[in-house]
Amino acid sequence: MKSSWVLNTLFVFVILVFFFLFVQGKLPSSTKHRQLQALSRKSKPGSKTTVVFNVLSFGAVGNGITDDSQAFNKAWDSACQSKKSALLLVPAKYSFMIQATIFRGPCKSRLIFQIDGALMAPDGPKAWKQKNGKLDSWVVFQSITGMSLQGDGLIDGRGEKWWNLHKRPEKAISFDFSFELTIRGVRVENSPKFHMAFNMCKNVHVERISIKAPANSPNTDGIHLEKTNNLKIYNSFISSGDDCISIGTGCHNVDIRNVTCGPSHGISIGSLGRDKSRACVSNITVSDSVIKHSTNGVRIKTWQGGSGAVSKITFQNIKMDTVLNPIIIDQFYCLDNMCPNQTSALSISDVSYKSIRGTYDVSGPPVHIACSDSVPCRNVTLSGVQLRPAQGKSLLKPFCWEAYGSIYTHPSSTLPPVSCLLNGPPKKIAKFDVDHHSQC
Ligand SMILES: *[C@@H]1O[C@H](CO)[C@@H](O)[C@H](O)[C@H]1NC(C)=O
Ligand SMILES: *[C@@H]1O[C@H](CO)[C@@H](O)[C@H](O)[C@H]1NC(C)=O
Ligand SMILES: *[C@@H]1O[C@H](CO)[C@@H](O)[C@H](O)[C@H]1NC(C)=O
Ligand SMILES: *[C@@H]1O[C@H](CO)[C@@H](O)[C@H](O)[C@H]1NC(C)=O
Repeated sequence: MKSSWVLNTLFVFVILVFFFLFVQGKLPSSTKHRQLQALSRKSKPGSKTTVVFNVLSFGAVGNGITDDSQAFNKAWDSACQSKKSALLLVPAKYSFMIQATIFRGPCKSRLIFQIDGALMAPDGPKAWKQKNGKLDSWVVFQSITGMSLQGDGLIDGRGEKWWNLHKRPEKAISFDFSFELTIRGVRVENSPKFHMAFNMCKNVHVERISIKAPANSPNTDGIHLEKTNNLKIYNSFISSGDDCISIGTGCHNVDIRNVTCGPSHGISIGSLGRDKSRACVSNITVSDSVIKHSTNGVRIKTWQGGSGAVSKITFQNIKMDTVLNPIIIDQFYCLDNMCPNQTSALSISDVSYKSIRGTYDVSGPPVHIACSDSVPCRNVTLSGVQLRPAQGKSLLKPFCWEAYGSIYTHPSSTLPPVSCLLNGPPKKIAKFDVDHHSQC
């Protein structure tokens, strides 16, 4: 009699806990659903329950000072080896300091990395334990298929003490060679350099995250992509001392939507083609977004001397608020003004700007399309571009160089009037351009 009373009370308690989590929305609906189902079936052995691996149970202290790396590694190893789907819990109300760590897959089943508390980097170079003298990334997720990194906790890169140094950890959070990833809800702040990077990943969904670093923190890009395909970034906030999002070589099928960006250097494709390298980027869409108080809006930047192609790029329904160069293509990208002129370049084609509205900073120009002398830009199209000076009345003249394309709204309703685009296909399509393009 007594033990069944205890069991019943326990059962009701467990139901209440899950109901609480459910109401709090801390678990994704599929997990909630599965857990409630599993509960109602009283967790038959072998049913698809989610097993929780709380880092506190692996010895983590969570006072923000103690090195909790080992506990995290143990929790990861157990979660990763779990045959049932695992939830690695970084609980709320605790701060966990961990050193540079690689969480390696492949794991036995899908995994949820739930950050409700704070995850903190070592506090600057003195606290950072070097591995082989290399400064690469702080937290790396490698070779993982099917993971959600989620929660409403904080990932704190504690970059302040790094920002005036040349050698710094390259990334706070890096996903390498990984597939089927969801990143949802988390806040990432003050990385020593890039905040979040995806390298050689596929099928990635980033949703409702926020990234924040001061406008004067150097090279603190929000999200950097490299050789990554089928990636979506939706409904997120990013402000930093460099690009909100930068898209490197080998990226295709990227969809960015409803991102509020700035202060920052804008959303960029590139830089590409440095040191005569080859780069291919295609099918990138940025839509329904806001870019504010930034040096650039939507930008494509390539170095002279590279090869490859950037094609099928759409910038659509973007509101600019006090942006220095809202629309910019720069094929003469150079950091020190000492780059010699080269005869080769990436080709840029099929770039469309639709409904780009708002204000530009008076030092503009609002439209700057500088393409390569040897490989002109092809099929650059503008429609519904309405950009006004943030202060004063003087309209700055758009700048174009070797830029071919068309305007699909009446020229007089395009603001500022853009008359510098050249008509039709360029007369000189270099042979190497065609060759290189076909190889991308
Ligand atoms: C855009 O993202 C914000 C922040 O996540 C969200 O509150 C808003 O509902 C989103 N808008 C749309 C149209 O999805
Ligand atoms: C372009 O990317 C989108 C996702 O952003 C995808 O749905 C579409 O199929 C891609 N188009 C091509 C031609 O690959
Ligand atoms: C490179 O070319 C541009 C014009 O295309 C010219 O103005 C500039 O002086 C050249 N720079 C060098 C270093 O030759
Ligand atoms: C120009 O680019 C647009 C997309 O930006 C595309 O729909 C159109 O087919 C292209 N035109 C040519 C002639 O390639």
